[in-house]
Amino acid sequence: MKIAIGCDHNGFALKQALLEGPLRDHHVQDFGVFSSEAVDYPDMAFAVAQAVAAGEYERGILICGTGIGMAIAANKVKGVRAAACSDVYSAKMSRRDNDANILCFGGRVLGPGLAAEIVTTWLAEEFAGGRHQRRVEKITARERESL
Ligand code: RB5
Repeated sequence: MKIAIGCDHNGFALKQALLEGPLRDHHVQDFGVFSSEAVDYPDMAFAVAQAVAAGEYERGILICGTGIGMAIAANKVKGVRAAACSDVYSAKMSRRDNDANILCFGGRVLGPGLAAEIVTTWLAEEFAGGRHQRRVEKITARERESL
């Protein structure tokens, strides 16, 4: 699976751990950052979100302090359904029900063990479609109407 990943300074250590762990067998493009020097999370969020929305990557992963800022920023890009998840169940359901194409979480919230489980679950889970397809299509239609 082609995956785009990005983080801010608060997500850098966790990004590195995931690249060496559950992401090592995937085709991953690292959009940075590459150190713990302070940056602005929307810059990485938009870079990853645009690449996913353009179809260059099947999925995206964004890590900041909490995952919240990354999700808010990524969801401004049309075609992106970013979910901030700090537990395995929510991550699974964000795929099954919401067809989330970007997963966000926090380097200040999760340890590497739980983060690895969340990532592995999220990458493996399929969208259920059916009635959920109709619901996601309503979101997409609303997005098309907005400026
Ligand atoms: C620091 O900029 C912090 O706000 C960021 O890492 C993230 O937690 C935002 O949601």
